[in-house]
Amino acid sequence: MILQMQHIYKNYLQGEMDVPVLKDINFSVDEGEYIAITGPSGSGKTTMMNLIGCLDVATKGKMILDGEDVSAYTDNQLSDLRLHKLGFVFQNFELLGSMSAMKNVSMPLMYAGVEKAEREQRAKEALERVGLGERLAFRPNQLSGGQKQRVAIARAIINRPRILLADEPTGALDSASGKAVMDLFQALNDEGITIIMITHDAQIAAHAKRQAKMLDGVLEEG
Ligand SMILES: Nc1ncnc2c1ncn2[C@@H]1O[C@H](COP(=O)(O)OP(=O)(O)OP(=O)(O)O)[C@@H](O)[C@H]1O
Ligand SMILES: [Mg+2]
Repeated sequence: MILQMQHIYKNYLQGEMDVPVLKDINFSVDEGEYIAITGPSGSGKTTMMNLIGCLDVATKGKMILDGEDVSAYTDNQLSDLRLHKLGFVFQNFELLGSMSAMKNVSMPLMYAGVEKAEREQRAKEALERVGLGERLAFRPNQLSGGQKQRVAIARAIINRPRILLADEPTGALDSASGKAVMDLFQALNDEGITIIMITHDAQIAAHAKRQAKMLDGVLEEG
């Protein structure tokens, strides 16, 4: 089991009001699974993804990630775990505009303390992997949306994460670029990386082997 969420609740404080957003989430993921989470806007999908991604902490409940009970982890422990075990892909790429594809991709390795020559070698390999070996020096504004997302995927896998988390990875792309992203996800999953993907798009969700639906903070499987 790579992930276990047990009786997870998340509330947000809005003024005086305590608003429940996730309500008793129980979710287990085996290593190598490929899961899509769908559900209406505002139902809590990104909130759940932020918990799995250790970007936020639950109000109540227990979460075990790759054998570690992270429920009581400090911010430093969480960021260390993010750096080594998780890769992130977002709808709007979240690339640094002033930096080349190569620099964007190698950034996580810098935080991990990998020396420059190895950083550059691995970033180059990751960009070749996503079909951008000819675009190493290009900055994000010199790339198409689909290319930007492939740079983001290269960055997400550079640390050889255990889980790839994707929040609407095709949401800003045309269907051909979206298909290229899905092909890449499939290839990564075939190599054993666990993928958890949020999407509004039923056709995109169909690429995953397992489906779950978020409805008003409650997760339903199947
Ligand atoms: N930081 C926050 N503070 C207060 N409320 C929040 C916060 N983040 C999210 N919420 C609330 O939690 C609920 C779920 O939001 P979330 O972003 O998880 O939805 P979502 O399912 O990802 O929606 P979408 O499909 O539009 O991205 C919403 O009602 C939202 O207003
Ligand atoms: Mg969302």
